[in-house]
Amino acid sequence: MSFKYAALLAATVFAAPAFAEVDIEAGEKAFKKCKSCHMIKNGDDVIYKGGKTGPNLYGLPGRVAGAGEDFKYGQSIVEAGEKGLTWDAETFSAYIADPKGFLVEYLDDSKAKAKMAKQRVKNPEDIFAYLESVVAE
Ligand code: HEC
Repeated sequence: MSFKYAALLAATVFAAPAFAEVDIEAGEKAFKKCKSCHMIKNGDDVIYKGGKTGPNLYGLPGRVAGAGEDFKYGQSIVEAGEKGLTWDAETFSAYIADPKGFLVEYLDDSKAKAKMAKQRVKNPEDIFAYLESVVAE
């Protein structure tokens, strides 16, 4: 085995677990818990039919918090976005488990408010991976 190949193999083995953990299909199934308030819609293309109480979650991964179009966000989440909060697997998972608590901590403001209640989901990173996958399509 050449050194180059061995190094490549090692890189693959060590990089794999971070990706192997997420399950896009399970994430799509889990989105059932979100659809009463959230849809996933790219222009007129409805990817997951849902309600309008919350913002459209199309293109959420990587997006600045509180910055989706056509939605009136609460003040705290907009403020967090202005302070640099963007959605990655980690911030997303922490936020949906406890939106208010997350914003209180992020803004260091005990009066921070969230328009969304705590969501009980087992693997929020699966939902995040699902949201990433629909954009990649
Ligand atoms: C009962 C309605 C409701 C349900 C159910 C709900 N949400 Fe929300 N969600 C909202 C509302 C309203 C907001 C806007 C929060 C604000 O402005 O403070 C929001 C905001 C969000 C945001 C921030 C979006 C942005 O553009 O910054 C994410 C992420 C999110 N929800 C994910 C989820 C996920 C994932 C689920 C399912 C596990 C879910 N929500 C279930 C109502 C809901």
